[in-house]
Amino acid sequence: MTLQIGSNEDCFSVLRFAGPSFADMRTISLRKCLIAGCFVLVLVIFRMSLLDSLNSWRAIAMSMDISKGDSVSREMFEQMYQLYDIRDVDCAGLFSQKNGSLDNALSKSKSAEWKGFRFHEDFYLKKTKHCGNFQRERGYIMTSLTKLEDEFPLAYSLVVFKDIEMVERLLRAVYRPQNVYCIHVDVKAKTEFFEAMTSIASCFPNVYMSPTRISVVWGKFSVLEPELVCMEELMKRSSRWKYFINLTGQEFPLKTNRELVEILTSFKGANDVEGVRREANKVRFINKPSDLDVVPTKGAVHVVVNREFVDYVLHDPVSKKLQDWLRTVDVPDETLFSTLNHNPQLGIRGSFIGLDDVERMMPRKPWVNRYKSWLGAPCAGRRIRTVCILSTGDLPRMHASPNFFANKFYLHEDRVAIGCLEQRLFNNTRDLHLGRTRVNTAFYEESIFVRNRLIK
Ligand SMILES: *[C@@H]1O[C@H](CO)[C@@H](O)[C@H](O)[C@H]1NC(C)=O
Ligand SMILES: *[C@@H]1O[C@H](CO)[C@@H](O)[C@H](O)[C@H]1NC(C)=O
Ligand SMILES: *[C@@H]1O[C@H](CO)[C@@H](O)[C@H](O)[C@H]1NC(C)=O
Repeated sequence: MTLQIGSNEDCFSVLRFAGPSFADMRTISLRKCLIAGCFVLVLVIFRMSLLDSLNSWRAIAMSMDISKGDSVSREMFEQMYQLYDIRDVDCAGLFSQKNGSLDNALSKSKSAEWKGFRFHEDFYLKKTKHCGNFQRERGYIMTSLTKLEDEFPLAYSLVVFKDIEMVERLLRAVYRPQNVYCIHVDVKAKTEFFEAMTSIASCFPNVYMSPTRISVVWGKFSVLEPELVCMEELMKRSSRWKYFINLTGQEFPLKTNRELVEILTSFKGANDVEGVRREANKVRFINKPSDLDVVPTKGAVHVVVNREFVDYVLHDPVSKKLQDWLRTVDVPDETLFSTLNHNPQLGIRGSFIGLDDVERMMPRKPWVNRYKSWLGAPCAGRRIRTVCILSTGDLPRMHASPNFFANKFYLHEDRVAIGCLEQRLFNNTRDLHLGRTRVNTAFYEESIFVRNRLIK
C-alpha cells in the first residue's frame, strides 16, 4: 500500500491514512490535529510495525467468523460488515438517490486521499504468504452458506491483464468454495501482475491459473482462445458445476451468489446469450463454408451458459468447424457463442428457439447477464469509445437493474462506486442468509429466452 503524504492534503486525511484504527481522529479539533500532524510520521512508522500484530489480532477476532463452520450468525455478519463500512459515504443514500449523498460522495472520491490509495502487486505478494490470514483479513466467504448454493456450483473464467486490486476485489465478490475459477493473464501483462495473480490463486484450492497463456489481440480469434482454454480447464477440474460465466477484470457483480443460484435454477437450463441477426454486420459472414449449416448470429461477448453448452463448444464437430471458419472472420468472439445459441437445429440444451420470429416482433431479443451502457443509454461519467465507464452517479440505475454484472469500471477513477457495490452485495448476502429478504425470480422465469429455450 502506498502512503502519500502530500502537502495539499488536509490534515485529517493524512491521519486517516495511518489506518482504520485512527478513523475517528476526525472528531478532534483542528489545532490538535495539526499538533498530531507532527507525529504522523512517527505514527506511520509505528503502524507499520503495528500492522502485523494488528492483523494477527484481527485474524484472531475473525477466526470465529464466516470462514469457519456451517452456521453463520448475525454477529459474524456484523463483525464482517466492518470491512465494507465506508467512512463518510452514505452508500444506501446513493442507491436510493437521497438528496445530497451524491455531491458528498463525489467530493470524497475526487479527494487526493481516495484517488491516491491503491493496493499494488507487492501488497498481494506479501499478504498471500499467509493464506489463512489473507482469506480472513480480506473477508473471503469460505463456506457455501446454504445447501442450495452448495448443490449448484458455478464456473467462472476471468480474462484479465491489469489492475490487480480490482481483479482481487472482483474475485472476492464472486468467491465461494464450491465454485471453480480459471484466471487467464494476458502474455503482455506485467510480470508483477502475473506473479501477484498466481500468488492469490495459490491461496484457494478452487482458483486455477490458465494452463496456457495467450497474447490477446482485439478483433482476432485470440480473443476466444483464453475462454476455450479456461473452459477446458474448468470442465476438467470439476464435474459438478452447472453454469459457466465469463468475466473480464473490469466488471462487478450486482447479484449475490445466492441470487445467481436461484435465478439460474429458474432458467431451467436456458442460456443467456445476446443474439442479433437482422442488424448484424453481414459482411463478416459472406465466406461461410457451404457445408456449415448454421445461420451466423452476432452477440455480446458476455455469456451465461449451461455445462452441456460448454461441452458442445469444446467437443462437437460442428463447433470445431465453426471455429475453423471464425479464424478467418473479423471479431469472431461476437459470433461463436451467439451462433451456437441461436441455431436450435444443433440440439444444444437451453439454446434459443425462434430468433427470426422474435426479431419481427421487437427490435432486439432481451438478455440479462450484463449491465452495460452503450451510447444512447444514461451515463454519469465519461465514455471510452461508446461504452460508459460506470461511476458513483450510475449506482441507482445499477441498483434497480435485473442484470447480473455491471461493465465496466476503472477503480482508480472512482473507488466509491465499487466500494458501495461491495457494501450492497455484502448486505444482500447477509440479509438473504438471515432470512430478511427473498430472491424474486419471476422476472427471469418469464423472460423470453427461458420460455423459448430448447428443452432436452
Ligand atoms: C448495509 O447495512 C448497514 C447496516 O448493517 C447499513 O448501515 C448500510 O447503510 C447498508 N448499506 C447499503 C448499501 O444498503
Ligand atoms: C435537495 O437539497 C437542496 C439543498 O441542499 C434543496 O435546494 C433541494 O430542494 C432539495 N431537494 C429535494 C428534493 O429535497
Ligand atoms: C466470453 O466467452 C465468449 C465465448 O468464448 C467470448 O466470445 C467472449 O470474448 C468472452 N467474454 C469475455 C468478457 O471474456
